[in-house]
Amino acid sequence: MKKKSKLLVFGKGFMGQRISAELDCALSDRRILTLNDAIEEIAEYKPDTIVNCIGYTGKNSVDDCELDMDKTLYANSFVPVILAEAALRSKIKLVHISSGCIYHYDYARQPPITENDIPDFFDLYYSRSKIYSERALEVLFKGCDILMLRIRIPLDNRPHPKNILNKLIKYAKVIDIPNSVTYVPDFLAALKYLLQIDAKGLYNLTNKGALRYPHLMEIYKRYRPDFQYELVQINQVLQTPRTNLIMSTQKLEEAGFAVRDINEVLEECVKEYVKY
Ligand SMILES: NC(=O)c1ccc[n+]([C@@H]2O[C@H](COP(=O)([O-])OP(=O)(O)OC[C@H]3O[C@@H](n4cnc5c(N)ncnc54)[C@H](OP(=O)(O)O)[C@@H]3O)[C@@H](O)[C@H]2O)c1
Repeated sequence: MKKKSKLLVFGKGFMGQRISAELDCALSDRRILTLNDAIEEIAEYKPDTIVNCIGYTGKNSVDDCELDMDKTLYANSFVPVILAEAALRSKIKLVHISSGCIYHYDYARQPPITENDIPDFFDLYYSRSKIYSERALEVLFKGCDILMLRIRIPLDNRPHPKNILNKLIKYAKVIDIPNSVTYVPDFLAALKYLLQIDAKGLYNLTNKGALRYPHLMEIYKRYRPDFQYELVQINQVLQTPRTNLIMSTQKLEEAGFAVRDINEVLEECVKEYVKY
């Protein structure tokens, strides 16, 4: 067991703010453009762990990444390497938030995707930019203290434009394909646990099982009976490709974290969400 970490979070967005509030730690508002920016920030805060929540997921959706390729490449591919180098030089730990949206998946033939499967979803620029950083940081796994956490389709118990529940309510059009999802309160608990046991390497950090959006909508309707939604085919709502997949949580469970099934948390999530 490691002593309590002194954390500094980079990236003042959805995940960065959630982590810094829940783990009660500093949140950098420095623009990270050079190695020196990162090293100076680390020298000022003196953390023993930095958490990289910097990224570009698009203004409204990952489709926007196709339109601003330099911003995407910089935030998702170059900044993680800058922060890894800064962490290595400063002899501290890096936690990098990655994404599960980096695979093709055959529901009929494949078991859930594990950390050992090689990412192969090059169809979206967002996914490619996340694959670049994963592969670059993996090179450092042997000698450096890096923990890489793959989240997927964050579902939170409070409103935020990046919360999948906000998005589904806003568009009121849902597809019916089972998908791995990360319930943010469970992610935060898992992050605390993995820091406590000083975990290193790559972890899929989703809930167990799969979410079908209509199931979530039906639970939401219990609290907001007037809400109406429409079931649609994927090509009716999206012009660009998307990943749909199931991820394995076995490694996280074997590390000793009790992973809840996503369908177990939906009622709790919506009940809390509607209070805001
Ligand atoms: N949200 C999702 O659906 C999702 C799913 C899977 C994985 N993830 C991953 O989770 C991580 C966090 O995502 P998020 O949802 O929290 O995104 P977010 O809300 O867009 O936050 C990202 C933050 O990074 C900042 N940023 C970008 N470039 C920067 C730079 N060079 N220096 C300093 N800050 C910079 C952005 O600031 P500006 O807005 O001012 O540029 C923004 O505040 C990302 O790596 C993302 O790929 C997210």
